[in-house]
Amino acid sequence: MKFYIATDHAGYGVKDFVKVYVHSKGHEIVDLGPDSDERVDYPDFAKKCAEAVITDKGSFGILICGTGIGISIAANKVAGIRAALCHDAYTASVTRAHNDANILCFGERVVGRGVIESMIDAFCDTEFEGGRHTERVHKIEGCSFGADLG
Ligand code: RB5
Repeated sequence: MKFYIATDHAGYGVKDFVKVYVHSKGHEIVDLGPDSDERVDYPDFAKKCAEAVITDKGSFGILICGTGIGISIAANKVAGIRAALCHDAYTASVTRAHNDANILCFGERVVGRGVIESMIDAFCDTEFEGGRHTERVHKIEGCSFGADLG
């Protein structure tokens, strides 16, 4: 698998750890920054990674901020991105199987390194199940448009 990775300053602390782990599992990983733990805005790095994943068909992303929340919300603004905020191997596996997630998100301040490894394993080892989930995933794109919010 090919991954793009980006973080904000609050996710920067585990970026190298994740890169080494993903690489050790035989996957490719491209670092989109930042290059230090200097304060940055997570939407800028979410956009960079999301656009890379859309442009490079078949690739995946990993996004990390303090909680994983802001960076996943921002990434999901890019059409075609299904960025899943995960907390454990179960959520990382089921989001591949049911949501065909293309970006794994988590919070450095939330999960430890052992959990991070198990989430990466689960995300990489699980295929999209298709079937009844296919139409649901297609409907996600429609959610952004024409919603009547009253
Ligand atoms: C940065 O302090 C923090 O707000 C950010 O990393 C993230 O947790 C936002 O959702």
